[in-house]
Amino acid sequence: MIEISELVKTYPGPAEDISVLDGLDLSVGKAESIAIVGPSGCGKTTLLNILGTLDVPTSGSVSIAGKELSQLDAEERSKFRNRSLGFVFQQHFLLPQCTVEENVIMPRLAGGWEESESDTRERAISLLRDLGLEERVAHRPYQLSGGERLRVAVARALINQPALVLADEPTGSLDPSMGEQVADLFAQLNDQHGVTLVTVTHNAALAERMGVVYALEKGKLQRR
Ligand SMILES: Nc1ncnc2c1ncn2[C@@H]1O[C@H](COP(=O)(O)OP(=O)(O)OP(=O)(O)O)[C@@H](O)[C@H]1O
Ligand SMILES: [Mg+2]
Repeated sequence: MIEISELVKTYPGPAEDISVLDGLDLSVGKAESIAIVGPSGCGKTTLLNILGTLDVPTSGSVSIAGKELSQLDAEERSKFRNRSLGFVFQQHFLLPQCTVEENVIMPRLAGGWEESESDTRERAISLLRDLGLEERVAHRPYQLSGGERLRVAVARALINQPALVLADEPTGSLDPSMGEQVADLFAQLNDQHGVTLVTVTHNAALAERMGVVYALEKGKLQRR
């Protein structure tokens, strides 16, 4: 599903360039799940952003489902993001003027959906129920706690039934029991629906439930 080789990412710095990813290799099969751990600033979000086509590598190759990302044109990239990818961002980026339910079905706005809007709404409610938010569907983000906003972001990432889920600290602001509920949902997606999962996390309990755990160190991944 994911093949990365010799991935390099540097950012321009005030004096010299900052090297974040430095010849990173990774291979993740379909329906596999991995966790990526590492200290703040080591490049975890940078790696997810590149996998999600939100950022581009300085050099190296990244392919997903057999397609080299650098070869995709803008339209193919946005199609990939809208139809095959679920992204749970570290900053959740919920739309403040929209309700919880509207935020979850927001990916529909990008178009290309075969399913009727009422079926999508039904699935949104069911996802929100799984995440303990059935009483919050008509709330707006400012009326939610941090953990509730995070769970809305998880539901939004799953609404398009993606083949690949990239999650950046998906249990960051959750208490242990809610964290476990998110971990259960991910495990279920992975086991029953063959979804490939790449999760960045500081949560040892969540990391343990992924098939393989990698540490991001000095710009490369080391298998734990
Ligand atoms: N757009 C940018 N321009 C310059 N430097 C950047 C940019 N984005 C990230 N960096 C730098 O790259 C490094 C890696 O950042 P990244 O966000 O990937 O870290 P992270 O591992 O996700 O950290 P955290 O656990 O705190 O979220 C940091 O040192 C950061 O300062
Ligand atoms: Mg980060």
